[in-house]
Amino acid sequence: VLQFGLQRRVETLLREYISKEPMRGTLSDGFSSRSSSTGSLSGYDGFFEQQEPRTSAVMEKILRRRSLQLLDQQQAWKESEEGEKMQRFRKSLPSYKERDALLKTISRNQVVVITGETGCGKTTQIPQYILEAEIEAGCGSNCRIICTQPRRISAMAVSERVAAERGENLGESVGYRVRLEGIKGRDTRLLFCTTGILLRRLLVDRNLKGVSHVIVDEIHERGMNEDFLLIVLKELLPRRPELRLILMSATLNADQFSSYFGGVPMVHIPGFTYPVRTYFLEDILEMTGYRLTPSNQTDDYGQDKSWKKQTLRKRKSQIAFVVEDALEVANLKEYSSQTQNSLSCWNPDSIGFNLIENVLCHLCNNEKPGAVLVFMTGWDDINSLKDQLQAHPLLGDPSRVLLLVCHGSMASSEQRLIFDKPEDGVRKIVLSTNIAETSITIDDVVFVIDCGKAKETSYDALNNTPCLLPSWISKAAAGQRRGRAGRVQPGECFCLYPKCVYDAFADNQLPELLRTPLQSICLQIKSLKLGSISDFLSRALQSPKLLSVQNAIEYLKIIGALDEEEKLTILGRHLSMLPVEPKLGKMLIMGAIFNCLDPILTVVAGLSVRDPFLMPIDKKDLAEQAKSQFAARDYSDHLAIIRAYEGWKDAEREQSGYDYCWKNFLSAPTLKAIDSLRKEFFSLLKDIGLVDDDPNVYNGWSNDGDLIRAVICTGLYPGICSVVNKETSISLKTMEDGRVLLYSNSVNGRESNIPYPWLVFNEKIKVNSVFLRDSTAISDSVLLLFGGKFSCGEVDGHLKMLGGYLEFFMKPSLAETYMNLKRELEQLIQSK
Ligand code: CDP
Ligand code: MG
Repeated sequence: VLQFGLQRRVETLLREYISKEPMRGTLSDGFSSRSSSTGSLSGYDGFFEQQEPRTSAVMEKILRRRSLQLLDQQQAWKESEEGEKMQRFRKSLPSYKERDALLKTISRNQVVVITGETGCGKTTQIPQYILEAEIEAGCGSNCRIICTQPRRISAMAVSERVAAERGENLGESVGYRVRLEGIKGRDTRLLFCTTGILLRRLLVDRNLKGVSHVIVDEIHERGMNEDFLLIVLKELLPRRPELRLILMSATLNADQFSSYFGGVPMVHIPGFTYPVRTYFLEDILEMTGYRLTPSNQTDDYGQDKSWKKQTLRKRKSQIAFVVEDALEVANLKEYSSQTQNSLSCWNPDSIGFNLIENVLCHLCNNEKPGAVLVFMTGWDDINSLKDQLQAHPLLGDPSRVLLLVCHGSMASSEQRLIFDKPEDGVRKIVLSTNIAETSITIDDVVFVIDCGKAKETSYDALNNTPCLLPSWISKAAAGQRRGRAGRVQPGECFCLYPKCVYDAFADNQLPELLRTPLQSICLQIKSLKLGSISDFLSRALQSPKLLSVQNAIEYLKIIGALDEEEKLTILGRHLSMLPVEPKLGKMLIMGAIFNCLDPILTVVAGLSVRDPFLMPIDKKDLAEQAKSQFAARDYSDHLAIIRAYEGWKDAEREQSGYDYCWKNFLSAPTLKAIDSLRKEFFSLLKDIGLVDDDPNVYNGWSNDGDLIRAVICTGLYPGICSVVNKETSISLKTMEDGRVLLYSNSVNGRESNIPYPWLVFNEKIKVNSVFLRDSTAISDSVLLLFGGKFSCGEVDGHLKMLGGYLEFFMKPSLAETYMNLKRELEQLIQSK
């Protein structure tokens, strides 16, 4: 009865918020405006200012004048010294030769597919060609070009570059928009945005009114958002005959896109690249393997000789280990399933760092000048290797080495450094994720080191379990990586895997739509009113498995985002507008409704960035201890994040944030990222109208640990497992998997007794057994009251489900309570 009452309250509130129509424009863009250098963003109603409805004769004149001004401005810039240099550079790009042909094809066809080697000038030039042609034709004021990028960092970097090429500041004719951030001005005609932003835009503007060109970049990556966008655009095209769609792809696999749109024309930009010599592991070992000390660098490793000796010994044994393994793999003549098997056993990660260091030593000491680009698996690896290289300058004089990192979540000030050329004699080394594979071009790269793996999400539909694991890249990706070395002169590529491993790589990577959980995308299909989810997805380039689709729909029903007829509920509508996973969105909404916003913002930001707790392998025990101090008998990893963050904020105020992080094994960059994301989420909720101005209200209950647990539970439900304390250990069970385990870096993982009957968790990952990541212990009553839909209508169904849980876990006392509740409720409904 209580839950029914709570649900009703929540539902009424949500209904109220959604009826505040004027807010919706801002909300649906997931965008808190940051003022641009020119023009203001106030009255901002989406991508571009919608001028058409107001077009009077006067308006026409103003627009015309602006357009002419733009032209004059460009002319002046082109004649300046800087501008001339830039023009020369632009004309040297392979895409320039195809400019006229491209423009002609685009004007004559509604859809065009453009392919070309990475770096030939697709992203930076083609949108500009269109813009320039439109301005020259006097149509500048009517032209509005959107160019989508799969990642926020590339949208930002590219827009900045294009503005610079035009001698402008960002926010003049060129702007960008990514989640929660952007710069655009009154005269912006070319907007780079993430694919997600365009999808969100389609929520409120189904016909993309006023947009003249949509350019979808990097479609070869087959990201989920891109595949999704293509289905939507394909259906939009007949409704907007004058809209132009341009698809851009790096690799040659472009026929599929052309035929998806009914055999549209393809234009290929022939590129020139220098030859790249490839070395596989066998060659590398021969080249560097046993010569552990580079010859011209006998004793300069630093004062600490004992360290050096130790490291060398350690390395020697590791190298030997690699050689053995590599040879073993190499000896498997048949590259059949057997090879595949041994590939999955052969894990270069543990030896990767030393191998990379070896190759870097070799390059720094023996090779011609040129930047080195190292492809690594993920952010964590990059940072650890960076620390390792900085702590022990094996590469020689540190002032001759410029060590940089490149990954999706770095700050934009960091980004710029990557593109700059270092002084003569300084070797630039960039440690990067696969982001530098196609979307970011670093010009002076001559050497590539490729670890052969990338973090890839995959999804086990059968067990409904998502995984994010490093996996082998495809041959296409390896080719891309290699190609990065041959852009300015003949280059070299060092593959840290044996040739036979390469031979066993798949040709292309599986499209993301086929390897990720589909909840967010299903929610989006519903909120865009695109009809039945499974019908819609069956129209994709490659449609996902039916089981994955069903799982996603089922999940959305359980959390109350969809009703039994697959219709979007009020909660679902709110969730579809928040740019985070449904479970995190639900937590945010409930945190605001239940007035405990501050801690919930921290949890949600923490879960969407990454774990702030560092777990260095050699100090794991100490790090785990440090973390468990933050949990202080709370049995919750999420509360530990809240405490760690709050402690850090206090320390920052006293200028001792760094010490605090060091002592407590916390990552300062991650905490900073959490901090800024929290602010962004807050302004988002404020835009929606979910929080008012008074912190005493929205934080009225922020110190109530039980309420915070409850709100965490509303978000993470149905991710629950039952806890049974045995004499010395704990037995955990979930409904789908049976017995599960906790990661040891969870604060609950070290407990031998958890005085709560349930844990809610936000992620489970299947390795050999199923492991739960961060978890929070909750009581029976929290589960009964908060573990549900919070969007009523279907109370009975929900109780049935809870009943199912209770029966399954055989908690007789609770089952009885539940039966009583159900009876009372039935009476209540009947008497109504
Ligand atoms: O999209 P695509 O890979 O075809 O090439 P692009 O990103 O348009 O880059 C074309 C050229 O512009 C690159 O080869 C770089 O030389 C240069 N560029 C740059 O100098 N700085 C940037 N931020 C982006 C591109
Ligand atoms: Mg590009």
